[in-house]
Amino acid sequence: AVRLRVREALGAREPADAVRVQGWVRSVRSQKEVLFLHINDGSSLESLQVVANPSLEKKDLTFGSAVEVQGKLVKSPHRMQNMELQAETIRVVGPCDIWSFPLKMKERHPLEYVRQFPHLRCRNNTLGALLRIRSEATAGIHSFFQDNGYVHIHTPIITSNDCEGAGELFQIEVSWAKESAQKTHFFNVPAFLTVSGQLHLEVMAGAFTHVFTFGPTFRAENSQSRRHLAEFYMVEAELSFTESLQDIMQVMEDLFKTVTSTVLSKCPHDVELFHKYIAPAQKSDITQKLFSSSCRISYGEAMEILKQAAQTFTFKPEWGCDLQTEHEKYLVKHCGEVPVFVVNYPYDLKPFYMRDNEDGPQHTVAAVDLLVPGVGELCGGSLREERLPFLESRLQRLGLTDAYQWYLDLRKFGSVPHGGFGMGFERYLQYILGVDNIKDVIPFPRFSHSCLL
Ligand code: 4AD
Ligand code: MG
Repeated sequence: AVRLRVREALGAREPADAVRVQGWVRSVRSQKEVLFLHINDGSSLESLQVVANPSLEKKDLTFGSAVEVQGKLVKSPHRMQNMELQAETIRVVGPCDIWSFPLKMKERHPLEYVRQFPHLRCRNNTLGALLRIRSEATAGIHSFFQDNGYVHIHTPIITSNDCEGAGELFQIEVSWAKESAQKTHFFNVPAFLTVSGQLHLEVMAGAFTHVFTFGPTFRAENSQSRRHLAEFYMVEAELSFTESLQDIMQVMEDLFKTVTSTVLSKCPHDVELFHKYIAPAQKSDITQKLFSSSCRISYGEAMEILKQAAQTFTFKPEWGCDLQTEHEKYLVKHCGEVPVFVVNYPYDLKPFYMRDNEDGPQHTVAAVDLLVPGVGELCGGSLREERLPFLESRLQRLGLTDAYQWYLDLRKFGSVPHGGFGMGFERYLQYILGVDNIKDVIPFPRFSHSCLL
């Protein structure tokens, strides 16, 4: 018998005789004359209907059990589906104790409920759909960059540099450090989990002009918010011979549109599930999100808008202060619930690598953040300071000259104007799917009481 995935069986054009399908039982309905099963193997949201003689029913054939069914693939008489499987044999490969199994047949479990079972929730429709979308979006991101001539770089995960300088580092310790007489660093210097691959990408942008990385990123953030994770995935791109922020914003926008179209065309049913049951208001929006206009304001303008707002904020808007969630929300609303690019932030607010706009003594830098409805900051990027004297004096003032000698070297040996950005992958998924809590777009949510940290 030919082994078929459920997706292949459902999409088959012709009936086939000896077919074998493996998967997990999503429903069992036993009638006097006929036994109906639905089998799912994660290849599609839709399950395959199996029709069998009631004599094939057995005690272990329950919801959640793993089965292998052999039989004939035939045209289904039902309007809603193309093919069904007429079973000749049904083998229960792995039974399931339905009384203690936390998922129940035909129930639409809330996300908060399934979050408690990180080891089982992938067998639920919503998480199944999410994980397929996540997989397609990952492939879409790689294709976007590869198709546009970018070289993919595996930037290190263990590193000694603190790119963002925000003090949100996880430090690496060797397990035998405590026992050894003197405390040793594995690499002789303190090492951390990366907070961004940007600085390593900048190295590569000095040889390839267009590079990207897409990997795990770690931040020891204190906030347990619905949009922060300690471990998340960041897409980062770096472009050489780039003198304008506009070029960076264009790549952000193209990346967003291309990947979102890919996801929509590769898994329309999975996306529909989210728009139907998770975020109903989003449904009409999705094409609007794809082709929507965006808005562009400067940080200075953003502050003026906030100061004139009728609303009172917990954090008073003031030049030099970071945009808080409440501010981001207000700005997006003010611009008509469209993505908002905020450019030219105060010099002192941003990391050392951002390019001085020279619009006053160390007044603003060429930074850009992309804020989106419902999520807030989706992308952050900037032009990088490529001028040696500017960078040297800034690092000196910060007392970082020694640590960043190698970075200064890049400005001595064929320095070019360049820039780039990072996009949070989970926030991207949250935005396109309308998911409220960021923990619901990762494969393994972490909770202190979780059985699977
Ligand atoms: O704005 P960030 O900190 O920018 C950088 O790290 C730059 N070095 C990127 C670059 O220019 N190459 O982070 C980029 C994005 C944010 O806009 C946000 O979407 C996401 O990464 N992000 C997080 N996502 C989930 N959980 C967190 N704790 C995040 N911190 C940042
Ligand atoms: Mg940022």
